[in-house]
Order: sequence, then structure tokens, then C-alpha cells
Amino acid sequence: MKMIVTGGAGFIGSNFIFYMRRTHPDYDLVCVDKLTYAGNLETLAPVMDDPHFRFAKIDICDRKAVYDLFEAEKPDVVVNFAAESHVDRSIETPEIFLQTNILGTQVLMDACRKYGIERFHQVSTDEVYGDLPLDRPDLFFTEKTPLHTSSPYSASKASADLLVGAYHRTYGLPVTISRCSNNYGPYQFPEKLIPLMIANCTADKPLPVYGQGLNVRDWLYVEDHCAAIDLILQGGKVGEVYNIGGHNEMRNIDIVKLIIGTLGKSEDLITFVTDRKGHDMRYAIDPTYIHNELGWLPETKFADGIQKTIAWYLDNRPWWENIVNGSYRDYYERMYANR
Ligand code: NAD
Ligand code: DAU
Repeated sequence: MKMIVTGGAGFIGSNFIFYMRRTHPDYDLVCVDKLTYAGNLETLAPVMDDPHFRFAKIDICDRKAVYDLFEAEKPDVVVNFAAESHVDRSIETPEIFLQTNILGTQVLMDACRKYGIERFHQVSTDEVYGDLPLDRPDLFFTEKTPLHTSSPYSASKASADLLVGAYHRTYGLPVTISRCSNNYGPYQFPEKLIPLMIANCTADKPLPVYGQGLNVRDWLYVEDHCAAIDLILQGGKVGEVYNIGGHNEMRNIDIVKLIIGTLGKSEDLITFVTDRKGHDMRYAIDPTYIHNELGWLPETKFADGIQKTIAWYLDNRPWWENIVNGSYRDYYERMYANR
């Protein structure tokens, strides 16, 4: 089995590579990543010399480079994590989101058609469903919930999902799509809520909470997301969408206070700042389908996962300090200078 994992130098993709090396030691993995600001090759250092692993610095929008790679590697499966993933950045500069998230997905699927593939899996998000009101805790996103997006990021992910469905129906491409809720865990880029708050809190810097901090997200430990994708690859039905989430809804302000409490700091660090434009109020996934069809259930309780995550950031300060000070960008040059 040879699997291309795009976006594997990012948060979830790298965790997926580590998960697959542990659980399927006979698989060959090829990580395709452009190494944007969010890609950090240092993260992949533990697998760089693994004979079952290869890294290819490629932009998924670069059709020639992608085709050449498929020609050389002849992959059986492609899992597409590569994306511009940060909502705030999409509000500032939408175009790169449309290029990578939509057109990059198209290039990958064209390569799958040209060279043949057993499965193309698209890693999507619950944000394609828009948001839910705070006063209706009985409502959840199911796979049948209409797409209804709020940000350029979520619109680009929904567009890609539609294109993936179209390639299945029109060309018979064997696709699956997963739509997961907010992930947390090791190696998340410190621009996202949880790692940003941990990093700022340890440095006694202000903790910027958007609006009043009442927005709700449905948090899932990253390894549980990886396990769900693995199950979909093994037993999922071609053409299907699977929602992934662990019924763990939290208000942003409560997460921030939990981090402050764990690190023994003062709540005076909390700074309420101007709200995100178009800010989604609440996400909440109904994971009944993936549970019934594939037996998936999350294994990590939030109370344990958040402590593990905070401990990881404290134990791995150089990883995120190199990001904050920018030196992680030189790692690729150092890593490949003598290869
Ligand atoms: P991330 O920003 O941490 O990583 C994205 C990776 O993709 C980076 O390594 C980056 O270098 C790479 N990349 C970006 N553009 C590329 C291009 N044109 N060609 C090749 N590589 C490129 O993102 P993440 O949080 O790990 O998210 C991974 C995927 O999961 C995304 O598709 C995202 O939409 C989806 N998702 C994320 C979450 C979450 O909570 N983080 C939840 C559900 C779904
Ligand atoms: O739901 C899945 C999505 O989760 C993924 O598709 C996205 O790629 C991922 O980035 C994430 O999107 P969010 O916008 O929910 O995540 P973020 O960490 O940016 O923000 C979480 C919440 O915290 C959100 O309500 C905004 C708020 N926030 C965020 C930051 C960075 C703050 O209050 N302050 C902040 O500084």
C-alpha cells in the first residue's frame, strides 16, 4: 500500500503520518507539502530517515509536479489534508484559499484520474455547514445538513467538497469525504485558539478573546480524527460523506480560563478584542453515521486531552518558539543542504 498524504507537514497531517506509521508499519507514505508558513518540516524529523517515508516539497496546484510525482510513485490512495486552514487569514486574503483549497484539490483528483487510484479521501470540515444558534442545543450537523458557509475559508472547503462529489458522479472517481469538528493536540500552529493561548499565557502576554468569548466549538483530540480517517479508508463507502466529532462543546472563554488555571496564571491576562467578521456562533457534529457504519468512537476525553496538550506545549517549547521567532523556516534548507 502506497499512500500520498498531502499537507503532512501541518498539524493534522503530521499527526496522521505518525498514527499511520504506528498502526500500519508496512504502508509506504509519501508526504506532499508546499511548506507554506503553516508547514514545518521540523515536525516530521522523527520519520525523515524512515525507509517507509518520503517527503516531497510540492505545491498541489503545480500540475506538472503533481503528475510527475504520481508517475514516479504510483500511489494506491491519496489523503488530502493540504489546505490554507486559518479563518482569520481567509478574511484578509481569500485568493490563496480558493487556489489551494479548490484548484489544488482539482489537480490532485485529475492526477488520480490520469494514473488510477483506489481511493481519494478529502479531509473537510464541519465549517461547511455554517453555524448553529446558541439557544438551540438540540440541533447538530448531520451529513444531510445543507452547506451554508460563512467565511472565504469555509466557502473554499465547501466548493472543494462539491467538486469531489462531482468527480465521483461524473468520472466515477472513488472518493470519500470527512467533515470533522475542531481538532486540538500536539503540533498545532500557534495561531489557532488553544496553542495561541498556551503560548501567550506561559509568556504572561494578553490573551485575545474575540467578542465576548461565548462562541462554541466542538473539540476533538487529533488522534481520534486520524483514527476515524483510517477507518473510512479501510471500510468507508465510496461516494460517502462522514461527519466526525465527539460531542464535546465548549465556549471559547471556558477553554481560555481552563488553560489559565492549569498554568497557574491570572485571568487578568484575558483581553476582549474586536470580534471576527462573520464569526460562526456554534459548531456541533452528530457523529451517529460514522459510529453506526464503522464503529468509530473518540477515545480521548477532553479533560485528559487538554492536559496532555498543555503538557506537550510545555515540554516542546523549542518547537513553537522556533515558529514564533521565525527560525523554523530555515529548517528545510538545513535539512536538505547535504542530501
Ligand atoms: P495546517 O494549516 O496546520 O496545515 C496545512 C498544511 O498544508 C501545511 O503543512 C501547509 O504547508 C500545507 N499546504 C498548504 N497549501 C499547500 C499547497 N498549495 N500545496 C501543498 N501543501 C500545502 O492545517 P490543519 O489544521 O492540519 O488542517 C488540515 C486539513 O484538515 C485542512 O484541510 C483543514 O481544512 C482540515 N480540518 C482542520 C480542522 C482543525 O481543527 N484544524 C478541523 C477539520 C478539518
Ligand atoms: O471546525 C473546524 C475548523 O476549526 C477547521 O476547519 C479550521 O481549519 C480550524 O482553524 C478551526 O477553525 P476555528 O475558526 O473554529 O478555529 P480557531 O482556533 O481560529 O478559533 C477557535 C475559536 O476561538 C473561534 O470561535 C475564534 C476564537 N478565537 C480564535 C483566536 C485565534 C479567539 O477568541 N481568539 C483568538 O485569538
